[in-house]
Amino acid sequence: MMEKLLDVENVSISFLQYTKGLNQRDLKVITDLTLDISEGEILAVLGSSGSGKSLLAHAIFGILPENANLNGKIKYKGKELSQEDKEELSGKEIALIPQSVNFLDPLMKISDQAIGLTKSDEERKEKKLKQREIFDHYNLGEEVDDMYPFQLSGGMARRVLVSTALLSDPKLVVADEPTPGLDEKTVQETLNHFRHMKEDGVGVLLITHDIHAALEVADRIGIFYSGYVIEIAKKEDFSGEGENLLHPYTKSLYKALPANGFELVKGHQPLHGEIPNGCPFYDRCEMRFDRCANERPELLDLGEKKIRCFKYEGLSIEDIYNYDGSNDDLGIKESESVDLENEDSNLTVEEDSPISIDDVAVEGDSSISVDVAVEEDGA
Ligand SMILES: Nc1ncnc2c1ncn2[C@@H]1O[C@H](COP(=O)(O)OP(=O)(O)OP(=O)(O)O)[C@@H](O)[C@H]1O
Ligand code: SF4
Ligand SMILES: [Mg+2]
Repeated sequence: MMEKLLDVENVSISFLQYTKGLNQRDLKVITDLTLDISEGEILAVLGSSGSGKSLLAHAIFGILPENANLNGKIKYKGKELSQEDKEELSGKEIALIPQSVNFLDPLMKISDQAIGLTKSDEERKEKKLKQREIFDHYNLGEEVDDMYPFQLSGGMARRVLVSTALLSDPKLVVADEPTPGLDEKTVQETLNHFRHMKEDGVGVLLITHDIHAALEVADRIGIFYSGYVIEIAKKEDFSGEGENLLHPYTKSLYKALPANGFELVKGHQPLHGEIPNGCPFYDRCEMRFDRCANERPELLDLGEKKIRCFKYEGLSIEDIYNYDGSNDDLGIKESESVDLENEDSNLTVEEDSPISIDDVAVEGDSSISVDVAVEEDGA
């Protein structure tokens, strides 16, 4: 039995924001986020740009911006982590592969920053040997040790971040967007690093907006929608007609993949200040019914799968997979399902919403990502 490493329980992250005059509001970016990772498991969290993925990573490491409010529990091996615990474990048992190479100190040689502070010459020698061993493994020659970050190519910088994270033999690695901007060969190389970590029993939280990367390496995939995890599915569920996927948004993401006919879901993902009072997917959901307009569905725990949708309340996973597809079987009358073509938007938009979002951007003809364009509204 693989040991549970990380539990994120009902985590919310918000920022105090000034609206008109001196009025303030608490802008929630992540709401009620629950997920877990065991040894030797890769869990991908798939979310749009700006949806709070890096904030989740930073919350685990205790490096959120000062103006962020964090609620909920983050546990490592069953113990709730205090800020001190996070600082103590960080770079040791748990390691962050940051999204940006800006995390590298521009004025420090690569080897020195990978090794970090040491207490004695002996410890430094030991760490230097280990750093060289890992750097060799990731195809980073000795010349890299004396380079500064600006001298590295994108692929080299990514490998430096991965090897630096592995220097401490972490049990849990959080990788924040490790693939964007990399060529296909480097993407494959990076994904292979995660496969190797998994084989070594490391738990990996892979934070990404790249569906292909997630499907290639993850065991389970958590889908973010408007700052909520709306489904945690097994990788095998993303196959066939997507019939094993539960949430209508996850199904539509799967259908939007080029191999599945490019059926893009209408509308866009409300974020932050725009989120409706009820289910965050209400405005786009063909299965919605009255209750969905005013009540937020909880994340239902179906064992290895989790789903946030009223449709599945009170059902076991067996009930769900035996269900024959008609709305009646799930307690929703056909007459209550919605023809979105003829519906006006029922979105409740809060005042002074600072951003708007475009969802599901298709990149090229072979990859699709959940993406958002963030605009200032000028208010
Ligand atoms: N210091 C801050 N003050 C106020 N709001 C912030 C702050 N930092 C982040 N945010 C808000 O949180 C949102 C999520 O930020 P985050 O960096 O976690 O997104 P992301 O999902 O990692 O995006 P990307 O895919 O572009 O990396 C931002 O869009 C922004 O609205
Ligand atoms: S049926 Fe209701 S709860 Fe489920 S996704 Fe649609 S709007 Fe949300
Ligand atoms: Mg990010």
